[in-house]
Amino acid sequence: MSEDLSRPVLSGSGASDYERYLRTDELLALQKTPAEQVHRDELLFQTVHQSSELWLKLAAAEVEEATRLVDGDDLGGAIRLLRRASLCLRLITDQLEMLEHMSPWEYQEVRKVLGHGSGFDSPGFVGLREVAPGLGRAFRAALGRSGLELTELYVRAREHEDLYQLAEMLIEWDERVSVWRYRHYKVISRVIGAHVVGTQGTPVEVLGKLIQQSFYPELWEVRDRLTQRSIEEAEARL
Ligand code: HEM
Repeated sequence: MSEDLSRPVLSGSGASDYERYLRTDELLALQKTPAEQVHRDELLFQTVHQSSELWLKLAAAEVEEATRLVDGDDLGGAIRLLRRASLCLRLITDQLEMLEHMSPWEYQEVRKVLGHGSGFDSPGFVGLREVAPGLGRAFRAALGRSGLELTELYVRAREHEDLYQLAEMLIEWDERVSVWRYRHYKVISRVIGAHVVGTQGTPVEVLGKLIQQSFYPELWEVRDRLTQRSIEEAEARL
């Protein structure tokens, strides 16, 4: 007798193994029903936020594991996971565009039912901010083990390919967080305005300033030093 492959074999609720494994019953019950909505755009709003939380959860998990790998000198493995983490950030940045499909006036209806809800309490973003410093520490320790100073790593990148690629993954990740912040700021400016305060009282201008924040400032500063060094070397040759 051949096995009936359409029958579920996994435990849990749901008619099929697809629904049981992915727990779609619970997942799809996490959004307000039409009867609970004050505006039908709540589904759009909840979908963008909830899916962003999932991508941020994955991003933080990958950064955390990458940190462990850097500590164990598996730089290739760390680079592979950091590529994923950066892609998570790109995906949530792209999906911010969906919020611009809401009318600013109709969004005011949605806003009234958010209570004191604020993105500062986003578990995904909090997680991201928690794991980022650890990665920076692990990178600096790896740099220390190589005996190189950061500028030298960039000047002699071809001799230290893995460490150089790792440095570039860190700055890529840092940049993607800033790009998300910039895009988020523009979306807010377009939906509620740039000169108002948020549901937790934060002026939107403050978010504009956060775009300048960086987890790994030394990786940005080294560019300045490289430009300076190149100018000095050219002048010395004259
Ligand atoms: C129409 C859409 C949105 C509006 C109007 C909005 C508005 C705001 C405002 C005003 C703040 C400042 C804090 C406060 O509320 O007082 C904030 C912060 C924040 N929001 Fe949003 N937001 C939107 C969409 C999103 C989405 C889709 C996410 C995805 C996770 C998100 C995540 C965050 C985060 C993480 C912060 C803290 C920012 C930081 O640390 O740089 N927001 N948002």
